[in-house]
Amino acid sequence: MEPATIVLFGATGDLAKRKIYPALYNLFLDGKLAEPFSLFGLGRREWTDESFQANVEKSLREFSRRRPEDEESLRRFIGGFRYHVLDIGREDDYRTLSERIRQREAELGAPPNRLFYMSVGPEYFETIALNIKASGLGSAGGWKRLVVEKPFGHDLDSARKLNSTLTQAFSEEEIFRIDHYLGKPIVQRLESLQQANPVIQALWTNRYIANVQITANESLGVEERAGYYDHVGAIRDMFQNHMLQLLMMAAIHLPNDSTSEKVRFKKKNVMEALELLQKETVGAHVVRGQYAAGTIQGKPAAGYREEPGIAPDSMTDTFIAARLRIDSNDWRGVPFYIRTGKRMKEKSTRIVVEFKEPLKPVSLPGGESAAPNLLVFEIGPKESITLQLNAKEPGRTGKFKPIHIDLHANPSESPEAYENLIRDALRGDGTFFAHWDEVELSWQWVKPILEAFEEQSVPLHLYEAGSYGPEASDALLAEDGFQWWFDERNENNNEEEGERYASYANH
Ligand code: BG6
Repeated sequence: MEPATIVLFGATGDLAKRKIYPALYNLFLDGKLAEPFSLFGLGRREWTDESFQANVEKSLREFSRRRPEDEESLRRFIGGFRYHVLDIGREDDYRTLSERIRQREAELGAPPNRLFYMSVGPEYFETIALNIKASGLGSAGGWKRLVVEKPFGHDLDSARKLNSTLTQAFSEEEIFRIDHYLGKPIVQRLESLQQANPVIQALWTNRYIANVQITANESLGVEERAGYYDHVGAIRDMFQNHMLQLLMMAAIHLPNDSTSEKVRFKKKNVMEALELLQKETVGAHVVRGQYAAGTIQGKPAAGYREEPGIAPDSMTDTFIAARLRIDSNDWRGVPFYIRTGKRMKEKSTRIVVEFKEPLKPVSLPGGESAAPNLLVFEIGPKESITLQLNAKEPGRTGKFKPIHIDLHANPSESPEAYENLIRDALRGDGTFFAHWDEVELSWQWVKPILEAFEEQSVPLHLYEAGSYGPEASDALLAEDGFQWWFDERNENNNEEEGERYASYANH
């Protein structure tokens, strides 16, 4: 990997403090950052290099998964940080920045490779890209890349406009759209698990799979983000990006030799094959919900409409469940269910692949039934990949019991999503970033849903904080004869299974 200068817009912000600096530090500790390491932090505040460095150090002490211990290496890392006051709208500021970066590159003997990272509000994305171009900051003779945080647009039209502006300054290959779910270690392992295992590849079709369930439940509520969240809701905040990305990653079929281009091509194929909903039929496949007051982990929790900054008659969705169908030879007939919600019973992000049951329960001895085989990807906060099979203890006439086979070795020391993503951007590997085609097709897919929500033609179900969401979301699966796996309240997810499952997932 060649050395590069990271040019960080939003250097005094929350994301930089909580995620970006700790990620860089951990990459540095693992020897995964090319040296000399150099970063220019940009912001409106009148900080100096020294005060910036002190702030970065503070963020490492507070948020890094490995806290700084060795003083000498910490100094070497922190020494790479410089600060520059910049008004995003002033082209002149970019020119003085350009000169400073040039000097620093000369001082370090580093090539003029530049990674521009926009960790700022989306209203600034276009101005920054155009000023990078106009000031010549991006044409120093090395490579240039642009990392863009979410949200990428507010709907199809605004996303298209944003993209067309960004591509005036950067080519598609130079744009790295962050979807931090793609950086999560288990999501990244999904790809290799398929590529390297013919058994999994062979099973990955409608011949063996009954349905796929993708869940991202959170116990947190809207917190201090009312101003942002009340305009976007779960559909834009989670569904259009993270959830559809997980669906693409779960549904692609990868050849052994797949390159970044092939992965993206396959993901695009999945999106193109997704059956489109009509505005009028949204209600038959999509459940919208909003949390009401309830109890989370024994503590009372306010309803969404009582949260500070939220209008008492807000119709914003904090929960969404949907049934999606992929019209391809591999997936025809297999429903993909997605759900995501705030103020749910517990934080849990997972993909469950439920296999078909060729043996009908009735044909088992004694009429007893066995649980279906499940392949479970626990993405967070626990990490595991397990296969649930049925077994009986030898010589005993007990019932079938599910056993869980662990497919995820060494789960403890996983890097954080941002470590994987920043490293990939520095290496120029776009596999785990959202390509424009995917983003555009995702906005296209959610368009009728946004319209139906806007027109209030889909009911807004209230659900108790601390629950598993509205009952209508269970009914959606029940219509097809299925249930959400691992919701404690479901009959077939008996306690014993829950415990066994947890004990495997917890190590
Ligand atoms: C963000 C959303 O993109 O993802 C948040 O804006 C959400 O609302 C968060 O809480 C969830 O991410 P994670 O990694 O905690 O599952």
